[in-house]
Amino acid sequence: MERAHYFGINNEVVGIDLDVIPAGWQIGPYLNMWRVNGFGRFAKTLGRNLLINPSQSKAWARATGANKIHKPKIYYDDFCSASIADRVPSFGTYDAVVSWSVFEHLPDPKTSVKNMVEALKPGGAFYISLHLYTSNNGHHDMRGFTGKIDELPLWGHLREQHKDEIFPSAYLNEVRLEEWRSIFDELTPGYTEYLEKYEHPEKYGPMLTPELLEELKDYTLDELLTVNLVYAWRKPL
Ligand SMILES: C[S@@+](CC[C@H](N)C(=O)[O-])C[C@H]1O[C@@H](n2cnc3c(N)ncnc32)[C@H](O)[C@@H]1O
Repeated sequence: MERAHYFGINNEVVGIDLDVIPAGWQIGPYLNMWRVNGFGRFAKTLGRNLLINPSQSKAWARATGANKIHKPKIYYDDFCSASIADRVPSFGTYDAVVSWSVFEHLPDPKTSVKNMVEALKPGGAFYISLHLYTSNNGHHDMRGFTGKIDELPLWGHLREQHKDEIFPSAYLNEVRLEEWRSIFDELTPGYTEYLEKYEHPEKYGPMLTPELLEELKDYTLDELLTVNLVYAWRKPL
């Protein structure tokens, strides 16, 4: 939703999410979210819409100088569904399809990549950024996102004797680098791949002692040190 603020200045934005995401103040969508996604998700969204989003919207308006941002139309659907194009009328017409931090959560990533391709018009492009499971915080334990990552065992989710100390906060498909590559090789040949490593090589590289490297010998350094894996591709005309 946040990114719709800048993409929506000059573009019409459509969003697809499995969760019902209320944005305004009608009571119906909130009750629907409670019913479909449970009380926890309802309370988190209400809190965010009350406390964080209004100031964020003002900050976006100030930063971009835009006085009108087109609100995205949101479809509530499963992006893994092979028949999603039948329900989202604008499928196949998009100039760009973008996704951040979603593909690592999808139980059927291959069908989802097919859907990215199908959603685009010829000449359109996709950009997918996903959080790689094999990175040090790829486990999505909340402590990894709240400044407590260094209290957790390094790459604990990949090490048998530490797995039970890690608590993923969401479903993860655990797809590895080579599996992602084989999906994109098959469906979108000619794609561009970026391995975003941030500070990981400087900070975590030295923590990979010879003993730890031996323990993690099934994983390449790229797998251990890449945080976000990015794929970009243009659909042929
Ligand atoms: C970690 S959030 C990322 C949200 C946003 N892209 C961002 O970067 O802040 C993952 C999102 O993926 C959605 N999601 C998970 N599985 C999905 C599916 N099968 N189809 C559509 N959306 C899904 C979740 O509902 C959630 O909103």
